[in-house]
Amino acid sequence: MDELHELYLPCPRGLEAALAAELAEIGSTTLRVGEPAASGVAARGTFDDVLRLNLHSRIASRVLLRVGRGSVADADDVYRLASRLRWERWFDARRTLRVDISAERSSLESLHFAALRAKDGICDHFRALGQPRPDVDREHPDVRVHLHLNADSALLYLDTSGEALFKRGWRAQHGEAPLKENLAAGLLRLAGWTPDAVLFDPLCGAGTLAIEAAQIACGVAPGATRAFGFERLRGFDAHRWQQLRADAAARRRAPPAPLFAADIDPRMVQLTRDNAQRAGVLDALQLRQGDVMDAQPPLTLAPDQRGHLVTNPPYAERIVAKGSEADDFLPRLGDVLKQRFAGWNAALLLADLHAERALRLKAARRHVVYNGAIECRLFTFALVAGRPPRKIA
Ligand SMILES: C[S@@+](CC[C@H](N)C(=O)[O-])C[C@H]1O[C@@H](n2cnc3c(N)ncnc32)[C@H](O)[C@@H]1O
Repeated sequence: MDELHELYLPCPRGLEAALAAELAEIGSTTLRVGEPAASGVAARGTFDDVLRLNLHSRIASRVLLRVGRGSVADADDVYRLASRLRWERWFDARRTLRVDISAERSSLESLHFAALRAKDGICDHFRALGQPRPDVDREHPDVRVHLHLNADSALLYLDTSGEALFKRGWRAQHGEAPLKENLAAGLLRLAGWTPDAVLFDPLCGAGTLAIEAAQIACGVAPGATRAFGFERLRGFDAHRWQQLRADAAARRRAPPAPLFAADIDPRMVQLTRDNAQRAGVLDALQLRQGDVMDAQPPLTLAPDQRGHLVTNPPYAERIVAKGSEADDFLPRLGDVLKQRFAGWNAALLLADLHAERALRLKAARRHVVYNGAIECRLFTFALVAGRPPRKIA
């Protein structure tokens, strides 16, 4: 149980440093967190750490445990590598299987074929032991294996998460272009919001940012109620897992500062309410329907209180406004921030990389983040009280 494993935790691009910081905070005496790499963070830890990372990481997409690596020049090398690894140590041949693949500068012609050869290698390995070949189940596999191809090597991992970690289990229905939950958690960190600060998302959609913030503020572990791939692996200790979940549940608390969310569309406000209810944090949120252009700070900040407006405005074509009002959205939003939110910090996720000009505000920081395949910026602004922020000419 104390054996150390090589782990890799992928995450949305742009959140690698935020993930490394989060992992260090989750911490344990055995976990070693590596430097942030492209789209993820490597770590070394025990199987117990694997359980804890799955339960507590809000930013990782998965927790992958390395089973083997080797140089590969073609798909047959992938087959040979997969067929010589001791899969029986991790799962039974009667488990169903799925092999996922990712690649970075791989010279192999077909990634799909490489994944197929990895699957064949695993199945033939079991056959060579006199056991049945595991069946493939693409929809609901018991075990997910992840093959990652580099320029000249392959890494084979067990996906200990199963379903991706951004699936917390509370989202029933998608709003308009919802953020993934782990992207939202990373944005809150990049925005500098911490649970002792007031939060306001005036364009909340399905409520992802506000619900993530509420779970952080209330100490709700992101994996508190969902199932994980590691539960199907050999050596899984159900008693230990219950104990970790009970420890996490005992950390539940009232949020230290109020959290607000609003949307112009009453159906979105209702969707946020339903999602927050399922996420167990409805009590922690104050929701209202309204146009961001009419928004006022939901409370007057005390001298020692910080307020963060963190939001993901709609892409141009989705703006709820008529005709030329859509073109004016960012300039008008910029005016709202300058005129009414002095003393607040604002963080806006925008795909318009030149949005500062439209907002007529100069960002304190610009974080490059990807919302799926879309390159975005999280622009952060310190809206200094008593002094309008610098305008862009
Ligand atoms: C990109 S979505 C936000 C998605 C959200 N971050 C999530 O994860 O679900 C933008 C939201 O802005 C809302 N919206 C558009 N124009 C608005 C306005 N003038 N005032 C308030 N909300 C508005 C839309 O109804 C939509 O729900």
